[in-house]
Amino acid sequence: MSKKTDQREAFGLTILKNGHPDVKKLRSDTGMPSIHGNKFWKATYLLIDYLNEFPPSKKKPKILEIGCGWGLGGIYCAKNFNAKVTSLDADEKVFPYLDLHAKLNGVKSKTWKNRYEKIRVEDLQEFDMMIAADVCFWDEMTKPLFNLVKRAHKAGVRTVMTDPGRPPFRDMAEKSIEKFGGAYVDWTVPHPHNASGIVLDIE
Ligand SMILES: C[S@@+](CC[C@H](N)C(=O)[O-])C[C@H]1O[C@@H](n2cnc3c(N)ncnc32)[C@H](O)[C@@H]1O
Repeated sequence: MSKKTDQREAFGLTILKNGHPDVKKLRSDTGMPSIHGNKFWKATYLLIDYLNEFPPSKKKPKILEIGCGWGLGGIYCAKNFNAKVTSLDADEKVFPYLDLHAKLNGVKSKTWKNRYEKIRVEDLQEFDMMIAADVCFWDEMTKPLFNLVKRAHKAGVRTVMTDPGRPPFRDMAEKSIEKFGGAYVDWTVPHPHNASGIVLDIE
């Protein structure tokens, strides 16, 4: 049986914790994601809070969430901005957790198993925005993510990415801002969510 402490409510979303019986069941049925997609990461709070302040400009935006994990960023956009969201991750084991949260929060999910290195300009042209939370955590991710931001810029797609402030993300964001301009700002979401970090927003 689930307990109240097994889940949290934030920004109108229900987010399950790892101790929730449905999450435990998925772990035993479908396995554990292996590239850190094993839980909800708080940089998504930064993403949601920032997008509340600087929302998509279109009425029904098409949004690509990369490194989606449990997909709460995209789920928030579907629910609040009427967005058509595609959730991309390299690890297909995250998708059952995403589907569970989409269902819980009353939105449809569309998933795409792919590595973000492989997203082409032609793919990006299908979207109005690309979003991400906590996807640049190893040094070797800096260059491929900078190149992806470059392709998004070429495709005319707005990129919004958030991070707790890890050095690989800072390197990527500083290089991107220098090259394409945009916003690179500290962001905090106070109690009870208690998240802080950085936002990169490139039009
Ligand atoms: C730290 S988790 C963040 C998940 C989610 N964005 C959140 O904030 O809860 C990083 C996610 O990026 C995915 N990932 C890592 N490398 C990737 C790559 N090269 N292409 C696509 N996804 C990747 C992982 O599988 C994982 O789901």
